[in-house]
Amino acid sequence: MSSKTRPVLLAKGKKLHLPNHIAIIVDGNGRWAEQHGLPRFEGHLAGIESVRSTIRCLNQYQIKYVTLYGFSTENWNRPKYEVMNLFRLLEEIVDKESQELHKLGVKIRHLGRLEELPQGLQQAINRAIELTKNNTGMTLSLAFNYGGRTEILDAVRAIIAEGVPPQSINEKLFNNYLYTAGLPDVDLIIRTGGELRISNFLIWQASYSEYYFTDVLWPDFGEKEIEKALLSYSQRQRRFGGL
Ligand code: IPE
Ligand code: IPE
Ligand code: MG
Repeated sequence: MSSKTRPVLLAKGKKLHLPNHIAIIVDGNGRWAEQHGLPRFEGHLAGIESVRSTIRCLNQYQIKYVTLYGFSTENWNRPKYEVMNLFRLLEEIVDKESQELHKLGVKIRHLGRLEELPQGLQQAINRAIELTKNNTGMTLSLAFNYGGRTEILDAVRAIIAEGVPPQSINEKLFNNYLYTAGLPDVDLIIRTGGELRISNFLIWQASYSEYYFTDVLWPDFGEKEIEKALLSYSQRQRRFGGL
């Protein structure tokens, strides 16, 4: 990495203990739009810019796994026009961005019930996965139509359907039936937008995650906030129940 592209924290020569897997609950688009006197959709549009810059910044920090929560199984409870506009935006962005991400060596995955999403979005996601499948850089997981409880139920169904003997069910086996099979546990969960809750995100995988909550609304999230989150994480002592 040249010193020019070196992210600020590392350039300062600080010794940082960085997370291997960061998951982000991108929240606050609607409130951002409201604050600017704009319709909610403009907030989602503005949020896309934060997604782009965040991925690039975390890539510079060489974070190996990044997971973004873009649409929860509970977000179907929103007005139909907002849901449909969101899906249209996600489809456009996945198609547009995957070429650029491919150049960065990013490997794209999807977490959630893909088959319930509109055809066009499913196809865009599948194209992005196919295009980037051999990349060895950051693994970027897109949690669209993701719910932690649904994920656990889907895993249980698959285990039963395959006739797995009860005595062979352990944490390792169970992990392999989750949408996140093959991904490491989440080290750091960031939530923007000021709410102090998990909203059904990675409830199994987050059992020993560290959390970073910020009042900053997602469209205002940027490098400065990422640095704060990484610094905060770096200063924590993780004990995993030990001493
Ligand atoms: C997060 O922003 C994006 C999605 C959940 C899709 P919100 O749309 O939840 O924004 P607020 O929380 O209403 O401000
Ligand atoms: C969580 O945000 C889901 C996503 C960011 C995709 P919400 O805005 O839907 O969460 P709640 O409703 O405030 O818990
Ligand atoms: Mg919200």
